[in-house]
Formats: sequence, structure tokens, C-alpha cells
Amino acid sequence: MHVWRIALAVPDAEQAERAAALSPDERERAARFHFERDRRRWTAARGAVRAVLAGYVGVPAASLTFRVGPHGKPALDGAAARAGLDFNVSHSGDLALCAVTRARAVGVDVEAVRPEFTTDEVARRFFAPGEVAALEALPPDERVEAFFACWTRKEAYIKARGSGIALDLDRFEVALAPGRPAALLATRDEPAAAARWQLFALAPGEGYAGALATDGPARLACWQWPPGEARAPSPERGPSGETGHD
Ligand SMILES: CC(C)(COP(=O)(O)OP(=O)(O)OC[C@H]1O[C@@H](n2cnc3c(N)ncnc32)[C@H](O)[C@@H]1OP(=O)(O)O)[C@@H](O)C(=O)NCCC(=O)NCCS
Repeated sequence: MHVWRIALAVPDAEQAERAAALSPDERERAARFHFERDRRRWTAARGAVRAVLAGYVGVPAASLTFRVGPHGKPALDGAAARAGLDFNVSHSGDLALCAVTRARAVGVDVEAVRPEFTTDEVARRFFAPGEVAALEALPPDERVEAFFACWTRKEAYIKARGSGIALDLDRFEVALAPGRPAALLATRDEPAAAARWQLFALAPGEGYAGALATDGPARLACWQWPPGEARAPSPERGPSGETGHD
């Protein structure tokens, strides 16, 4: 499992190079952003994702085509689909993550940590009752970290399943306590899933929380895009305590 940490605040030359790889549809989508900053970040993310995936497939970034699943999960299309890669992307603020694997489902999430967002009301709205109880049992100074651990792990699992908001957020529960391994604790839809799915906490950078979900054991290796920048922070411990590196 490769996790690429993608910088989105890049110099103009790098931005132009990434933008050049976009398809006409993607350019149209970019043009619909109201704010220039959002347009720039989205373009930087999509261009870098193309470059990253093109490296695995061995084709020019601009030649890749994508299709979307029934709930919007993107996948490679055309000849590149034969490479059997599964990937997933998340962006927040100046960072994106792109997870790449082969013949496995994968979901990834990154969020800029906003303490003001971590209210009881938001937790009760989005988290399962067991998660709310676990959060409330923590000392107040651990709750922001736990809130974003919970949020990103739930998002990563939803995204790995490709189900979007069709998967009810209170139908599955994740571990969230700081210092404890990430895990899918229970799911009402598929009782065996808790054993099969693996969750990983990621440490994408100062002020960001992240998580990755995949349907089986995995060892994570982390990379940075563009290559040559300082090495990306490693993921935190995996389910059996291993650290991701390479
Ligand atoms: C895609 C989704 C699952 C996550 O969106 P998000 O967290 O706002 O945004 P992220 O940056 O993490 O992910 C967006 C990327 O996920 C991918 N994506 C889109 N739909 C997807 C789906 N159904 N499954 C997996 N990945 C998807 C795309 O690559 C997208 O990138 P793009 O916008 O450049 O095309 C969103 O549609 C959604 O349903 N979010 C709400 C779920 C919720 O209520 N979460 C509360 C958490 S407890």
C-alpha cells in the first residue's frame, strides 16, 4: 500500500505543469470553483494524482481516463484499468493524500484539524452511539485528537467501500482513543467486516489528521509528491503496531 502525500501550495511552474495534465472535463470542473484558491488547490491535487498514477501505469499523465462507481468513487478506466490498481484521494487545506494499491479496496481521508468543529452536537450527528460514549469518556484535552481520529477513520472506511453517504454513519464503529491502534470495531451491515477491514492512523503533517482503510492486511509505505521534497511523515502504527516507512 503506497500513500502519497501531495503538497498543494506549489510554485507557479509546478502548478502549470500539473494543470497541463488535466482533461477538458477536469478543466471545466476546475473553472466552476468560486474561489481562485480552491481552483488552484483542486487543480494541483488532480494533476499530481494523474502524475502519481501515470508512474505506476507507465503512460503519460494526460492520457489517463477515469470512471466513477455508482456512488462517485473514481477508478482508472480504459487500458490503464488493466493494471488492476485501486486508488483513493482526499484533500484538505494545502494537502492531499493519494493511496495506491493493487486488487484491494482502499479509502483515505485527510482533514485539517479545526478544534472549533469538534462539538458534542457534531459528534452526535455523525458518530455512532458507542463512538460518542468513547469520546465523552476521554479527558477534555484528548478530545480534539480523538474527534478527528474518529472522523477520518469513518471517512476512510466509507471511501474504501465506495458507498459515499449511502452507508449510514451510525452503522459502524471505529476505535478513536489517542495512543490506541486504529480499528474497525463493529459493523451492523456485515458482522465479519470488523475482522477483515484494516484501519490505519496517518500523521500527514502538523495540523492534519488522516486515516486509511483497506480490506485486508497491509504494510504502508509513504511517499511525497513532488519527489525530492523532504520525506513525508510516516503513518502512525498499523493495527498490529507496525510503523509504515520506506
Ligand atoms: C467523497 C466523500 C465520501 C468524502 O468527501 P470529502 O471528505 O468531502 O472529501 P475528500 O477530499 O476526502 O474526498 C474527495 C475525493 O474522494 C473521491 N471520491 C468521490 N466519491 C467517492 C466515493 N463515493 N468513495 C470513495 N471516494 C470518493 C474523489 O477522488 C474525490 O476527489 P475529487 O473531489 O478531487 O474528485 C463524500 O462524498 C461524502 O459522502 N462525504 C460525507 C460523509 C460524511 O458525512 N462524513 C462524516 C464523517 S464521520
